[in-house]
Amino acid sequence: MRVKSHPILGEDYRSEFVDITVDGKKIKAMAGEPIAAALLAAGIKIFRNTPKTGQPRGIFCGIGRCTDCVMTVNGVPNVRTCVTPVEEGMVVETQIGHGRWGENK
Ligand code: FES
Repeated sequence: MRVKSHPILGEDYRSEFVDITVDGKKIKAMAGEPIAAALLAAGIKIFRNTPKTGQPRGIFCGIGRCTDCVMTVNGVPNVRTCVTPVEEGMVVETQIGHGRWGENK
């Protein structure tokens, strides 16, 4: 689901794939791409559940403004995945409610 060749931007310059863990499963992601992009490329569309009603949320604005894409990353809750780059070995978890430091509750 990634654009490899673009008529204006040219060829994809990113080439290094790394492993990240999402809800306990390893997926391949490109180092430096937004976490949200890696998740969408892997077919993952639900990033969190709302605190009050538990409704699923995913990427919305894509520019770091709405916070719909927040997840727990390396034990830190409320990380905006649309503007946070992928790094080797990241552990990403679907955030339930407001999230808690070090765990996903
Ligand atoms: S999608 Fe809006 S802040 Fe990430």
